Amino acid sequence: MTPQKTLTLFFFLLLSFYTFTSSATIEAEPAFGNPIDQKLLGQDKEPTLSHFKFYWQDIVGGPNATSIPIVQPIPKFNTSSSFGLVRVIDNVLTIGPNLTSKVIGRAQGFYVSVSETELDLLMVESFVFYEGRYNGSTIDIVGRNVALNKVREIPVVGGSGVFRFAKGYAELRTLKFDAVSGDTLVQYDVFVSHR
Ligand SMILES: *[C@@H]1O[C@H](CO)[C@@H](O)[C@H](O)[C@H]1NC(C)=O
Ligand SMILES: *[C@@H]1O[C@H](CO)[C@@H](O)[C@H](O)[C@H]1NC(C)=O
Ligand SMILES: *[C@@H]1O[C@H](CO)[C@@H](O)[C@H](O)[C@H]1NC(C)=O
Ligand SMILES: *[C@@H]1O[C@H](CO)[C@@H](O)[C@H](O)[C@H]1NC(C)=O
Repeated sequence: MTPQKTLTLFFFLLLSFYTFTSSATIEAEPAFGNPIDQKLLGQDKEPTLSHFKFYWQDIVGGPNATSIPIVQPIPKFNTSSSFGLVRVIDNVLTIGPNLTSKVIGRAQGFYVSVSETELDLLMVESFVFYEGRYNGSTIDIVGRNVALNKVREIPVVGGSGVFRFAKGYAELRTLKFDAVSGDTLVQYDVFVSHR
């Protein structure tokens, strides 16, 4: 073998070595999604079905307002359906209907007036609870609220903490609307299945 051929062979081997090692590195990357044992996340247990009843205090006026308009309604579509209104809320959830009764959590989120012909709200809410084993856990709901109907149903889309993998629904009943202040009191019954 001439020195030139030896050199060429040497570089060829060197190149093959790098190609081999770099492709080996790519193969060693972990897979993005992997099945795991459901026991690892406590999902082998029987689900618990719970009913939570609380009162949603939508305080829109005065110094202690917790429901704040972020986008004002656009009257050209309809002067009374509030189409376009967006309110961000940090409403207290009380154990009884009275605003002075014990606060058991808060409803954080927003609602949007989404109809040009009636008062329909799209509700996006995360309920964070303060009581006992539920302290710091959330139930999250998203859905359509035809505000003037007697009973409305909104899906539970999930939860966190105690409520991981939660599913269920919330029933809403308006108990009081104060035409002067604009404040609204709504009873929430949340039926939720979780493990
Ligand atoms: C606002 O909150 C403060 C402190 O909790 C309370 O003293 C006051 O009465 C409240 N005002 C109204 C109008 O509810
Ligand atoms: C505007 O909304 C109200 C309900 O808030 C409804 O009664 C009325 O029919 C609507 N008007 C039009 C033109 O859709
Ligand atoms: C709410 O609670 C306050 C103070 O605890 C009380 O004065 C008031 O009468 C109660 N309102 C109702 C409707 O029970
Ligand atoms: C809830 O958790 C917070 C923060 O972890 C803690 O400060 C608070 O005392 C707890 N409340 C109850 C009722 O356990």
